[in-house]
Amino acid sequence: MTAIAKAMTDDEIKAAAEYFAAIPSTPWIRVVETATVAKTRIAGGMFVPLDGAETEPIGARIIEVPEHPDRTDLRDPRSGFVAYAPVGSIKRGEALVMTGGGRTLACGTCHGTDLKGLGPVPGLAGRSPSYQVRQLYDMKAGTRRGLWSDLMKAVVANLTDDDFVAIGAYLASK
Ligand code: HEC
Repeated sequence: MTAIAKAMTDDEIKAAAEYFAAIPSTPWIRVVETATVAKTRIAGGMFVPLDGAETEPIGARIIEVPEHPDRTDLRDPRSGFVAYAPVGSIKRGEALVMTGGGRTLACGTCHGTDLKGLGPVPGLAGRSPSYQVRQLYDMKAGTRRGLWSDLMKAVVANLTDDDFVAIGAYLASK
């Protein structure tokens, strides 16, 4: 990617950004609350359900799997993901995201009331919960150190891993 990006002019980069921004987004992640999930293995950088019908308790996890592993393998852009989350996550996450529940700041203040981003602040709605929970974890651990990351420090300071799971489930469901 670096070689390709370096060979592009600023005008070409702008044209590419405008082209991609104009493509309507389609739902990509379906959030399903559940007490148990299929056992999974890791393949191709993803969780993939095992062939058998074996299940296990979800615990305090989000398990994100392709809707159709064979189609995702072929990079089918119309075959999305399903994120299994603990029962009650979406509602609990909504309270934290919308009001902060007294423990954090309402996310819309900086990320836009529709959570689709505001200026340089990234959008959160409908994005991969595994990715977003990982970012929240890294920001709390101090290992994500971007130019603007300090603005997230106070947000994550009093949130637990369970809170991150609930927030991830709610954001993905938007
Ligand atoms: C004071 C402003 C502010 C508030 C309030 C805020 N954020 Fe952020 N958030 C930011 C900024 C700025 C970034 C970009 C940080 C960077 O570049 O490293 C960010 C980044 C993120 C990211 C990483 C996104 C990505 O694309 O990698 C996540 C996830 C996130 N915020 C979630 C939340 C959640 C959930 C809340 C509410 C509980 C919240 N934020 C509240 C300013 C804020």
